[in-house]
Amino acid sequence: MLLGSGGREDALAWRLRQSPSCDKLLAAPGNPGIARWADCVSVDPCDAAKVVDIARRANIELVVIGPEAPLVAGVADALRNAAIAVFGPNAAAAQLEGSKGFTKDLCRANDIPTADYVRVDRASDALASLDRFSIPVVIKADGLAAGKGVTVAMSRTEAEAAIGAAGDGPLVIEEFLKGEEASLFALVDGETAVPLASAQDHKRVGEGDTGPNTGGMGAYAPAPVLTPELQRRAMDEIVRPTARALAAAGTPFSGVLYAGLMLTAEGPKLIEYNVRFGDPECEAIMPLIDGDFAELLHAVATGRLAAIEPPRLLPKNAMTVIVAARGYPGTPASGGVVREIEAAEQVEGVTVFHAGTALGDQGLVAKGGRVLAVTAIADTFAIARARAYRAVDQIDFADGFHRRDIGWRELERANA
Ligand code: AMP
Ligand code: GLY
Repeated sequence: MLLGSGGREDALAWRLRQSPSCDKLLAAPGNPGIARWADCVSVDPCDAAKVVDIARRANIELVVIGPEAPLVAGVADALRNAAIAVFGPNAAAAQLEGSKGFTKDLCRANDIPTADYVRVDRASDALASLDRFSIPVVIKADGLAAGKGVTVAMSRTEAEAAIGAAGDGPLVIEEFLKGEEASLFALVDGETAVPLASAQDHKRVGEGDTGPNTGGMGAYAPAPVLTPELQRRAMDEIVRPTARALAAAGTPFSGVLYAGLMLTAEGPKLIEYNVRFGDPECEAIMPLIDGDFAELLHAVATGRLAAIEPPRLLPKNAMTVIVAARGYPGTPASGGVVREIEAAEQVEGVTVFHAGTALGDQGLVAKGGRVLAVTAIADTFAIARARAYRAVDQIDFADGFHRRDIGWRELERANA
């Protein structure tokens, strides 16, 4: 059973359903895309009692939790207490995403490379701490903020304004790190941690990486900028010490740990952790995974990660372009008709995942900010990118928009 209803979950469902070990898949609540691979049940994924009840009655052998909200709410705890195998951390370990202060303190206590910081309980204490930092400086609200609680302040005035706007909740003030960002996805089961894949995404809504932050307008995998040597360092210096620290504290991590890294001149440093797959990174990663994915996640869920073959990726490149509804990330236009997904999927190597769709009287319509995640794989990055855009161009969605420059860094590198 898969919990969630976005593009990430459609990609997970698609890949799980292709696994030889998965003969039936339930999704709660799912979406019209997920309904292609799973039976959807209308249940709130954060309602732990309901999720446990359905899993019991359907004899579910593995629950995969897609989004962070059920993890932070303790849905994995409830499933584990009911002796149901679950891919995803308990609430205590999910604090790695739920509380930036928790993660920063864990890094400091375990010598994990990250930006220097101070943690304050009230925004009013933050002003006094600003003097310790040079400009630019980073101000973060301490809690789940869906990427919206972060200000990279380019002046003291901007920093003070961000603190003023933060209300009176807890804040983290951070040293600004210089470098290129990359994401590393590792499977973690207690003290065992193995790399699964790397990726890069585009967070800004506009071309040239401009405009407000979004959940992500596109992504590609792998991220060659995270070289094998840098990935090894990130695993040894960041991910594994984190897994050991959580295990030693009696709150072991189980699931996928998504490390947002800054590749600085001194090596990889942690920007943030998420305790789930990225969206849209997941849509780019799933087509690259070789072997029985459901069995891999089941091994993590049942504490057997150290005993099985490490995960393998196909030697290919994948790229995902998000098609969003006009107005996103503000108030997205709802209800626009979406057609020609089948035509897009005729392009070689392409799968179109549903991120925010619903079935209306006129067929498929937009419901949510990010509507489709158009993914292509190919032997080279340039071909994957060309295929993804050829597929996007087939889609008929008058109310939609997308970025034409997804993967620009990688394209420059590939052309260089
Ligand atoms: P976060 O929600 O912590 O990932 O922050 C959102 C974005 O802000 C990151 O993806 C970075 O682009 C930027 N950011 C966060 N922390 C830092 C930092 N210490 N130095 C530079 N950029 C940062
Ligand atoms: N694409 C960024 C995230 O999933 O958090």
